[in-house]
Amino acid sequence: MPDLTELRRQAAGCTACELYVDATQTVFGSGRPGASMMLVGEQPGDREDLAGEPFVGPAGRVLNQALDRAGVDRADAYVTNVVKHFRFRREGKVRLHRTPGVEHVRACLPWLQAELALIHPRLLVTLGATAAKALLGAPFRLTHHRGEVLEYEGLPLVATIHPSAVLRGPQERQAEMLEELVADLELAARTTHTSGPEPPKR
Ligand code: URA
Repeated sequence: MPDLTELRRQAAGCTACELYVDATQTVFGSGRPGASMMLVGEQPGDREDLAGEPFVGPAGRVLNQALDRAGVDRADAYVTNVVKHFRFRREGKVRLHRTPGVEHVRACLPWLQAELALIHPRLLVTLGATAAKALLGAPFRLTHHRGEVLEYEGLPLVATIHPSAVLRGPQERQAEMLEELVADLELAARTTHTSGPEPPKR
């Protein structure tokens, strides 16, 4: 099994689906090996594609705010995405997000599985429906299971909304949606502290 640096290097050359052709670069996960919480988003956005780091754009700002409010130090977590290349369509000079297809999720999943095996987190948080369905199956409905501690291959998993849903939501719902995200991250933090033995130090 390669270490995280080697895995990142290998992922940088990934051509398993066509998304690498138009994207600037592979956006691999970022964070501490041995982090107790792994946060999994959908795919990098425009800013992440340019920076090469996950959740550094507007959705990242919402995520940072929610993590802060939930008492989770992002530096102690590992943040990644199910799909590691930006899928978009051009409208003039703007690159607009396109939801990745099942074929992109399927092609990219081995990277997430390898990250999981190396980070060995105590708990997973999926952000949005794409990440939740990638791990829990296509029939999974976020609206039915928010606020619950679920399980993925023996690991506790909390499925919550995507931070960009807060930004895209109707103005009058945004504060409430941020509260939901914070509450789910608080649940994840509590569960992390109570679930199982300390992972091995790396
Ligand atoms: N949205 C995601 O799902 N991931 C990112 O890294 C940025 C925005």
